[in-house]
Amino acid sequence: MSQLLQAAATPAGVFQVERPRVIAFVNRKGGVGKSTTTINVAATLGHNLTKHLTPEQRAEYQCEVVVVSVDPQGSSLGWAKRIQNKELLPFDYVDASLEAGLIQDLIEDGYRYILIDTPGWTPPDEDTWDGMDDSKQATVLRAVLDMADEIIVPMEPEALCYEPTMWTVERTMRAHPKPFRILINNCGASENDVDLRNLRRWLAKRPHWPVFRSTIRGYKLHSRAPEQGVVCTEYPENTIGLKARGDFADLTLEIAMEPASRSMAAVSS
Ligand SMILES: Nc1ncnc2c1ncn2[C@@H]1O[C@H](COP(=O)(O)OP(=O)(O)OP(=O)(O)O)[C@@H](O)[C@H]1O
Ligand SMILES: [Mg+2]
Repeated sequence: MSQLLQAAATPAGVFQVERPRVIAFVNRKGGVGKSTTTINVAATLGHNLTKHLTPEQRAEYQCEVVVVSVDPQGSSLGWAKRIQNKELLPFDYVDASLEAGLIQDLIEDGYRYILIDTPGWTPPDEDTWDGMDDSKQATVLRAVLDMADEIIVPMEPEALCYEPTMWTVERTMRAHPKPFRILINNCGASENDVDLRNLRRWLAKRPHWPVFRSTIRGYKLHSRAPEQGVVCTEYPENTIGLKARGDFADLTLEIAMEPASRSMAAVSS
């Protein structure tokens, strides 16, 4: 865990502590790729931050990326624990499913990126201000939405995903307005794919929803990775492996170079 807070002198000579970027992966639809994208973005960010280190520096390296799971299913933690190449694992992982307050401690711990994997399904409640009930999962999700700097909303190009994503953005996130971007995940390889074209048309009717330019295409390599205990940076250097890694390289670059801005925030209710 990094102890080094990024201190930088402002022109006024006052020292400022750079806050980590807290990014939550949220969609109240289950199985849209929240855990898959959280772990692979963490792996790619960590890889980029460590690839120039010598083995000696690597041994001393304190991770600058941490994956936090607030999902009682713990898919991303189970995956991280199975990662075989522990010496090269360029991120820490923490279970905060019972205590979202842990995230506040991590914010003070000097990480550059805190990536939060959230549960897929929280009980809906028509009558509350944010469409969530008072269950434990909902309480934790509210705390995450309040702590996060930006939200990534993965969604798949399939009809069953549209309505729950609407509910997530227009109901829950509208009540907790934060900059957000839609991430198209598990899509066909070509922009001509019918499902992808339908999704693009559907998104075009919602011009106030920012969408990542990068997409994550569907590859078996991704669905096999948790069981095999690997992350995308370890995929084989063949055509498919490079494409699958490349999608995460592009997405991670977009995340790193273009932090979400206020203009991307859901309109407050
Ligand atoms: N780009 C992809 N290519 C292939 N398979 C994918 C891709 N993204 C996700 N999957 C697969 O889809 C399934 C659901 O993904 P994942 O567990 O990441 O979703 P989730 O949103 O975290 O689910 P939950 O809501 O249950 O936490 C998994 O089997 C995963 O391997
Ligand atoms: Mg998950």
